[in-house]
Amino acid sequence: EKAGFDHFMLKEVHEQPKAYRDTMRGRISDDGRSVAMPELKMTAEQLKGINRVHIVACGTALHAGLVGKNVIESLVRIPVETDVASEYRYRSPIITPETLVIVVSQSGETADTLAALREAQRCGARVLAITNVVGSSVAREADDVIITLAGPEIAVASTKAYSSQLIAFFLFGAFWAQTLGTKSEAQVAQVLAAMEALPEQVEKILAQAELLKEVAESISHHSSLFFIGRGVDYAVAMEGSLKLKEISYIHSEAYAAGELKHGTLALIEEGTPVIALLSQEDLYEKMLSNIKETKARGADVLGILNEGHEAEISKSVDRYFAIPRTLPLLTPALSVIPLQLISYYASLALGHDVDKPRNLAKSVTVE
Ligand code: M6R
Repeated sequence: EKAGFDHFMLKEVHEQPKAYRDTMRGRISDDGRSVAMPELKMTAEQLKGINRVHIVACGTALHAGLVGKNVIESLVRIPVETDVASEYRYRSPIITPETLVIVVSQSGETADTLAALREAQRCGARVLAITNVVGSSVAREADDVIITLAGPEIAVASTKAYSSQLIAFFLFGAFWAQTLGTKSEAQVAQVLAAMEALPEQVEKILAQAELLKEVAESISHHSSLFFIGRGVDYAVAMEGSLKLKEISYIHSEAYAAGELKHGTLALIEEGTPVIALLSQEDLYEKMLSNIKETKARGADVLGILNEGHEAEISKSVDRYFAIPRTLPLLTPALSVIPLQLISYYASLALGHDVDKPRNLAKSVTVE
C-alpha cells in the first residue's frame, strides 16, 4: 500500500504532482483563461458583498492559510486576518455578515477548527471550508466547501494535503479576482498558466530529492536550527520548521528574515544551520543581507532559491537548492517540497518513526 516507498510520508510527498492536477482538474477552463467553482453555493453578489476575511485553522493547515492570506490580499485586495483556531473564539473577533470565514482542515475533524466554524456561523458569517475529506464534520457544517483532491493522507506529517490547500487558495483567489474584476482576464490567465505548470515543476524537484539527503544528515547532528524568509517565504519557513520538529524532534524556529537582528541573532553561533528561502525576487537583495548577518556569526547556510541564481549565490551560502521559476505568489507550492524532504531524511537519519511521530495523532479531536 506504500507503492514501493519506505514510508507513507515519502509516498505522499511524491503524490503531490497528481494531487495538484486532481485539485485543478475541471476548475480551470480548457482555454486556460477562467476558473469555475461550481461547488460554491455563494452567489457572485454575495462574494461582492464580503469586506473582510478570517482564515482559521491549526498547524500545517494554518500555514497554508498564511499563504492564502497573501493570495487573497494580493489578488482581491480585501483585508485578511489569519488565526490559530484555538485562539480565535476567545478573542472576540469582529465577525459580521460581510465577513467570510475560511476554515482549512485536511481531516475536517479538528475540534478547534470545527468550534471556530460554529462560532463564525453563530455571528452571522458565511463559512467556506477547504478540506480533504468529503462528508467530514467541517465539510457538512460549512456553507461552502472546496474539496482538495489530495487523496487519503496517512502519515501524521501533512504534505500533499498542505500543498493541495495552497492550490485551493490559488484557485479561489483567482476565481474571486475574476468575479470582482480586481485582476484583468489576462492577469487571471497568467496565474492559471503558471498553476498548470506546477505539477511538472514539482516532478523536477522530486527528481533531485537525493541531493537533500546530505543536508538533512548534517542537520540531524544539530540540536537547533533556523528557517528564514520574507513574504510568503516566511509562511513556508514556518511550515518547514513545524515539519522538522514534528518528525525529527530537532528544535527549530522560523523567522521573518528581517526580524532576526532584533534578538534571535544572538543564538546563531559557529555551525548553526540556517535554511534561507529566497524565492521572492523583489526581496532577494534584502535576503542576501540577512544571510550575511548569519554568516558573520558562523552560520552554515542552505539557500533555497529560484533557478538562474546558482552561479552568484555560491558566494553567499554554503549550499543551495534551486527550484523552477514561477509567479512570486505561487512559489510556496514548490519551495515547500525540499523542506518536506529535508525533514523526512533528517527523521530517517535519526531512526525515528517517520509516519507515526511520538506524542502526535493524525486528527486532533480535543480542544
Ligand atoms: O486535519 P487538520 O488539517 O485540521 O489538522 C491540523 C493539524 O493538526 C495538522 O496540520 C498538523 O499540524 C500536522 N500533523 C502537521 O504535519
